[in-house]
Amino acid sequence: MAKQNDRVRARSIRRRCLGWGLATVLVAALSLPFIAYVGDATVVAASSATEEQTNPRANYWRAVRGGGEGYTAASGPYTTNTLIQNGGQNWRQIRNGPVASVLPWVLALVILAIGAYHILHGPNELTRRPTGRVVPRWTLAERVLHWYTAVLFIVLAITGLSLLFGRAVLIPVIGLNGFSAWASLSIGLHNYLGPFFLVGMLLEIVVWLKYNILHDYDWTWLKNGGGYLWRTAHHPPAHRINAGEKILTFWMGLVVLGTLVAITGLIMDFPNVGWSRQTMQISNVIHGVAAIIWIALILGHIYLGTVGVPGTLQAMTQGNVTAEWAQEHHDLWYEELRRRGIAEEDMPAGEPGRGPTRPRVPGT
Ligand code: HEM
Repeated sequence: MAKQNDRVRARSIRRRCLGWGLATVLVAALSLPFIAYVGDATVVAASSATEEQTNPRANYWRAVRGGGEGYTAASGPYTTNTLIQNGGQNWRQIRNGPVASVLPWVLALVILAIGAYHILHGPNELTRRPTGRVVPRWTLAERVLHWYTAVLFIVLAITGLSLLFGRAVLIPVIGLNGFSAWASLSIGLHNYLGPFFLVGMLLEIVVWLKYNILHDYDWTWLKNGGGYLWRTAHHPPAHRINAGEKILTFWMGLVVLGTLVAITGLIMDFPNVGWSRQTMQISNVIHGVAAIIWIALILGHIYLGTVGVPGTLQAMTQGNVTAEWAQEHHDLWYEELRRRGIAEEDMPAGEPGRGPTRPRVPGT
């Protein structure tokens, strides 16, 4: 009987030992990981106690961002041996900073300036009523080229602006999912249509270069603000293309900004050629800035080509303009058309509804 009692006691001791042992292992397993947090909290508390004390992890990341080169098995042109490339962070700050926050205001100011001009100055109406006589201005091929390039420009401008400012402007309107779908469509259209636009742009430069060479009379036009900025006693002289169109639309727009946008766009479109990351980052900033200045110029061009100077749009839609429009806005060109027998002699001054032309600038 006593032996049986001893066996029962021993079994109960073994069971208790096993239970406590398991409980100890369980508690230790659950609580040990928290020791790391306690240690970490102690370090944070100690480091924030004195402001002068440097966070050791800051030094670590400072060293990583130092741009030092190490060894990697991966090889390629994109600084693969540098752990963190500082230029990327600088690019992000410039792109999301001044480029994305200042440039929208440039566009807004241009739109406001055009609106203010239209309200205060009004459209540049002809001084004479059109008689129905027209003269040819742009051939069908020239018009097709113009609209091919213009439509592509507008699609590229809308998709490009969506990619640059979309996060700030479109997400509040169409939501995250809507913006995500629109952004992927935009990037696809922008990347693929860019080279097609470049073809149109180069053809426009080649075809219209001959009309856009600057001459002496262009300075007289500029000194008179083209007759668009303030009322002038004399009609500023212009040949087929006036000095404003030559400088802003052709030279500054197509030639200078177009070249910058095209070169930087091609660099970003074809990254596998082997450009360095820095080249891609600089290209991205130049592309955005040049494109927005170009869009601002084109807004002015669209205004003057439509409501700003009535009678101009039909030059690019029907291919001709009224004789009165040609005489008033491009007097030297009209004279040449008359000399070549393409335009009729001028209507006699003072006929009903056909007032006299404004006097020309002497010596032109
Ligand atoms: C909706 C957009 C546009 C409209 C309504 C428009 C309208 C016009 C009109 C009416 C003309 C004829 C002007 C004249 O005969 O004196 C013209 C000419 C011209 N446009 Fe546009 N345009 C637009 C977009 C563009 C774009 C995006 C570009 C360039 C990327 C452009 C470049 C030109 C050029 C180069 C000329 C010929 C003038 C010159 O040689 O300087 N246009 N445009």
